[in-house]
Amino acid sequence: MNRTAHRGRIAHLLGDPGSTGQSKALAHFEDGCLLVEAGKIVGCDHWDKLSPDSGQWQLIEHGSSLILPGFVDTHIHFAQTDIIASFGQHLLEWLNDYAFPVEQRIGRDRQYATDTAQFFVDELIRNGTTSALVFGTVHKHSIDALFDAALVKNMRLIGGKVLMDRGAPDDLCETISQGRTDTLALIDEWQNKGRLGYAITPRFAPTSTWDQLTDAGHMLREHPDVLMHTHLSENKKEIELVGELFPDCDDYLGVYEKAGLLCDRAVFAHCVHLSDSEQSRIAAAGASIAFCPTSNLFLGSGLFNLRAARAANINVGLGTDVGAGSSFSMLSTQAEAYKVGQLRGHALHPLEALYLATLGGAKALHIEAKVGNFETGKEADFVVINPMASPLLARRTAQSPDIMDLLFALGMLGGQMVIQETWLAGHRSYVA
Ligand code: GUN
Ligand code: ZN
Repeated sequence: MNRTAHRGRIAHLLGDPGSTGQSKALAHFEDGCLLVEAGKIVGCDHWDKLSPDSGQWQLIEHGSSLILPGFVDTHIHFAQTDIIASFGQHLLEWLNDYAFPVEQRIGRDRQYATDTAQFFVDELIRNGTTSALVFGTVHKHSIDALFDAALVKNMRLIGGKVLMDRGAPDDLCETISQGRTDTLALIDEWQNKGRLGYAITPRFAPTSTWDQLTDAGHMLREHPDVLMHTHLSENKKEIELVGELFPDCDDYLGVYEKAGLLCDRAVFAHCVHLSDSEQSRIAAAGASIAFCPTSNLFLGSGLFNLRAARAANINVGLGTDVGAGSSFSMLSTQAEAYKVGQLRGHALHPLEALYLATLGGAKALHIEAKVGNFETGKEADFVVINPMASPLLARRTAQSPDIMDLLFALGMLGGQMVIQETWLAGHRSYVA
């Protein structure tokens, strides 16, 4: 039977709850029913209202567990899986000491690339992440390995091979024409295969010449259905370096802007140190920001100003940024986002945190028509969360007076251990 009726506590967002967590954006059913047919959502309501016929539907009881839309990670590096939690450096030193060496290994050893990609995709799913925007390495085979692994799981995943032609070890640099040839071949082979999508991925301004960045801009214009994914204004020394390398540009964003990379399909990771002008230009372009709190704290990069970005109407999603990020869990990432907010004088409302991790992230990646909540017709990507996954959680969540408090406690205390099941397009892909 290709029709399943999931019974449990269900919560999802129908729109943006804003910074005050407007509850009209929330659909919450204490005893809810999620109907899935052929991998798509066909209904979501109170159990009593939908009352599925057990002859027609396979009933799956989730008891007191909470069903949420699958998480959307808007910025992560699969090749850096094995260097997560590496000690003691800030961005530029960390790149040289940890990130580049592991990316070189991906280049040298195809079997390692394949193994890492498979582990990575499994780890996303174990953490309840059902969609992600992913950096590969400069090597074409890194993205073949990633997409092969995601295709097997039927995951909605977007990725791209990195473009770099300077500022890194020789075996991580390519010629502009090699970068173009490989990028075009990957788009040709993978864009819209299964649920996969491509993102043109210049690493960041310091590792591309002006000519490579403008070439990336041309490829972006030639392919109106792909994304653009890069880093922006993460670290102060990085910003200084960009100023030295591109003296003709007014600011860091100006480099991408002049190269034709600023548009509504652009996703900029970090954006910790934006000027007001950069922020307004990102907003005007309809581009998105991936807020990566665990990474920004781990590398000591700074405190992202979520309030300012959201007030400027910029699409913001949450990113783990593994391996500079210290967790694959979007729940742990929400917890760090909350703490960054506290230090900036704004407590992140639990509904806003849920938005950033689901529908808001989907919007940033232009996949909100397909995933992000339980609207009819969307793909059935969801997580089943056990609020009693540890003795402490069981005590704490037993006291929860309402769904807001439950979501908040799960974010603060949860992490990977609360993920009981992950479903991709109506198929159970992970059970704890
Ligand atoms: N900036 C350029 N490359 C990277 C990377 O791999 N990780 C992070 N966090 N920032 C970057
Ligand atoms: Zn990154």
